[in-house]
Amino acid sequence: MTAPYLSLDPLVPWRQLPRPIAWDQIFGRSAPLELEIGCGNGEVLTRRAGERPEVNLVGLDVDWVSARRALRRINLAGLGNAVVVQTEAALGLERLFTPQSLAGVWCLFPRPWPRPCDAHHRLFSNRFLRLLGSRLTPTATCRLVTDFKPFADWVAGQIPGTGLEAVWQEVPPTVNSKYERKWQGQGQKVFYELTLVKGEHQPWPNPEEPVLHYPHFDSLNPEALTTWEDWGEISVLCKDVLYDREAGRALLRMVVLEDDLEQAFYLELMPKPQGGHLLRPAPGCGVLPSLGVQRALELTARRLSRT
Ligand SMILES: C[S@@+](CC[C@H](N)C(=O)[O-])C[C@H]1O[C@@H](n2cnc3c(N)ncnc32)[C@H](O)[C@@H]1O
Repeated sequence: MTAPYLSLDPLVPWRQLPRPIAWDQIFGRSAPLELEIGCGNGEVLTRRAGERPEVNLVGLDVDWVSARRALRRINLAGLGNAVVVQTEAALGLERLFTPQSLAGVWCLFPRPWPRPCDAHHRLFSNRFLRLLGSRLTPTATCRLVTDFKPFADWVAGQIPGTGLEAVWQEVPPTVNSKYERKWQGQGQKVFYELTLVKGEHQPWPNPEEPVLHYPHFDSLNPEALTTWEDWGEISVLCKDVLYDREAGRALLRMVVLEDDLEQAFYLELMPKPQGGHLLRPAPGCGVLPSLGVQRALELTARRLSRT
């Protein structure tokens, strides 16, 4: 049976908060900030938080089930210096942490995506390393441990031009995480550890998030409530439409692709009391304001409005 989380308290609701996150406010104190990328079930995070009460620790994982397990562990351990963020790592680094704010980062057994055709999914690409480097303080290090030598070699090849320097070594099992135990159980005795040290600082500012303008129009063309795609530098896809003809309301399932950001969310079409219709991101869908979302609003309004 799945164990329930005990409290959502250590979960940072980053989509509802001003970004980058004011971490000192989240933790209620000023202290060195460290990050675990892909914290999984949170066992290393909580162990470390217990051992180092003087540090503020953020565990980040893209997967809700992992985040939930980490929350449970933090609660059971009664820790006040560890929190969890559920998001994709590159998005989190870029938007939630200011440049030169992380005193330490570690990532244990990131998924190696072993097939060459899947390599674009791997963390620690050249772009990711430049972003990571920009978030480290001048004296910070990042520690990466993997079980998969070809992935270690691939990361080594991504380092030139990132402002980071790397030291590789073969190590015995040392971290005692779920995945380390898994590979150990299958007989693996040697792992690969990369320590990244910051050399030169390469600026990478937090992206500005535009204020979205919600379009409204006088007359709706219900025939236009269909799926469509608009491919370009910013691609906007309307994947699905739910329409309540009587109420004059609709929900449109959108996907927007721009730069390195992909967002899936709903747009809500609603009648205004004084007549006409308003189009806005559906409340609660957690969309990040971006030029792509603004474009989705404008393209959709243009299609739906009867001229
Ligand atoms: C192989 S598991 C390792 C978990 C843990 N570090 C350990 O050693 O047991 C990889 C973890 O990274 C997370 N992950 C994979 N890709 C990610 C990404 N792009 N951003 C954030 N987390 C990611 C997965 O959800 C998973 O929890």
